[in-house]
Amino acid sequence: MSKKPVIAFLTGGYSGEAEISYKSAITIENNIDKDKYEVYKIDIRKDGWWHTTGDGQTTGVDRNDFSLTVAGNKVTFDAVLIGIHGTPGEDGKLQGYFDMLGIPYTSCDAATSALTFNKRYTVAVAAFSGINVARSLHLFRHTPVDPLQVASQLQLPVFVKPNNGGSSIGMSKVNKAEDMAEALRKAFNEDDQVLVEEFISGREFTIGVFKTGGKIMTLPFTEVISKKEFFDFEAKYQGLSEEITPAVVDESIAEKVRSAAKRVYEVFNCRGVVRIDFIYNEAKGEPYMLEINTVPGQSEASIVPQQVRAMGWTLKDFYSALIDEALALK
Ligand SMILES: Nc1ncnc2c1ncn2[C@@H]1O[C@H](COP(=O)(O)OP(=O)(O)O)[C@@H](O)[C@H]1O
Ligand SMILES: [Mg+2]
Repeated sequence: MSKKPVIAFLTGGYSGEAEISYKSAITIENNIDKDKYEVYKIDIRKDGWWHTTGDGQTTGVDRNDFSLTVAGNKVTFDAVLIGIHGTPGEDGKLQGYFDMLGIPYTSCDAATSALTFNKRYTVAVAAFSGINVARSLHLFRHTPVDPLQVASQLQLPVFVKPNNGGSSIGMSKVNKAEDMAEALRKAFNEDDQVLVEEFISGREFTIGVFKTGGKIMTLPFTEVISKKEFFDFEAKYQGLSEEITPAVVDESIAEKVRSAAKRVYEVFNCRGVVRIDFIYNEAKGEPYMLEINTVPGQSEASIVPQQVRAMGWTLKDFYSALIDEALALK
């Protein structure tokens, strides 16, 4: 029998989103095909990059060549499965490191990861390619602005968001100009850059897209119905939202969402599985893209696993498809 491909599965990360990475890790570990691959889980933390063996020995990664030494044997990897939400697994940093070492990985490349981690740069590139996005302003901590002037340049209501954040932390919906100052303060608390974006009314859809055998495939998509004013942190992680997979929509709308999603995947030269958030505006009859998540959540209850099941695939088949796609880059 030929040797199984050796896969490093990365979890953790340096941001608050590490907590969510560990939840994703449970699903990935339960479903990754151990008959097909030899898998080493590595916890990427600020205090080190750690692997713990079956008998409880913890050993650090040699960052010179991304290798481990386990029971006296050196282990190198054929591909990396990136399961880190937030920095450094979703923003291009680890991608750049693996590119330098020539080790293939399952996510978008360094440039796409860095670009899509910046919400404003994402919508700017999308707009240039004819994808509908909301009008917005990009603010920087080093250039303070008058909140009332910000409010006057866009049509209210607007969303005020940390530009690089995730999980809706530090985000507000502003209905009145006088609430802008507080919203900006809250967002700048999380990030040096803030995006102020016009509210798009409509139904919210989020869609997983991946590539297998070189072909771009969309997953059956989800409608998100928030019980809060928008899909905020509580709505996302504390059950205050309803997610309907597959969304119940007219085929003509579904086709517009799928084709916009495929187009986004192509324009951004994505790789692996990404999840793209859209608002479908009925008046315009068009989906508007909000953002691209290049390392979408994989916990049991997360949206991508729901969509994979709705497609009739097992998660095992799905993760194998992602790993095989990365191995083919070798
Ligand atoms: N321009 C907008 N119009 C309407 N709803 C929005 C807009 N921007 C954000 N939202 C709402 O806020 C949620 C979170 O925003 P998003 O940009 O996806 O950031 P996050 O990284 O926190 O998921 C969305 O899922 C949506 O419910
Ligand atoms: Mg989102």
